[in-house]
Amino acid sequence: AVTRTFSIIKPDATRRNLTGAVTKMLEEAGLRVVASKRIHMSEDQAKKFYEVHAERPFYGELVDFMTSGPVVVQVLEGEDAVKRNRDVMGATNPADAADGTIRKTYAESIEANSVHGSDSDENAATEIAFFFNDDEIVG
Ligand code: CMP
Repeated sequence: AVTRTFSIIKPDATRRNLTGAVTKMLEEAGLRVVASKRIHMSEDQAKKFYEVHAERPFYGELVDFMTSGPVVVQVLEGEDAVKRNRDVMGATNPADAADGTIRKTYAESIEANSVHGSDSDENAATEIAFFFNDDEIVG
C-alpha cells in the first residue's frame, strides 16, 4: 500500500550541503517528498521529539546535536514508505550500514548519521503531526 513516513536530514548533512544529495537517494528509492521544510529545532522540540530516548545515556548529546544546526524535516510517500525509507537509510551505525545506503555513503558517526526515519506506521503518523499541519502536506 502507498503510505507515508517522516524523515529528518540531520545537521551533519545540512552542514555539508547534502540536502539535495540525500533527497535524491530518497527519490531514487521510490519515495516522493510530499512536504519539506528547513528548520532549526529548539531544545524543547528536540527533547520532546526524542522523548522515547530520554533514559538513554546519549540523550543529552543527541539533543545537543539535533539543535546544532538546521535540519530538513520531510514527509515521504511511497509503497511501504516506512520500510522503503529504512532500507535506503541503512543501519543506525554507519559502520554496520550496507553499501549504497544513505548512512554508509554520508554518515559521520552513530550520532551524526545524516538521516532519521520513522520505525513504524504509528510513529510516522505521530512524527508527521509533530512537525506538519495537514495543509502543508501536498500529495
Ligand atoms: P535516530 O533514528 O534519529 O533515532 C535516535 C538517534 O539516536 C539515532 O538516530 C542516532 O542518531 C542516535 N543514537 C543511537 N544510538 C546512539 C549511540 N549509541 N550513541 C549516540 N547516538 C546514538
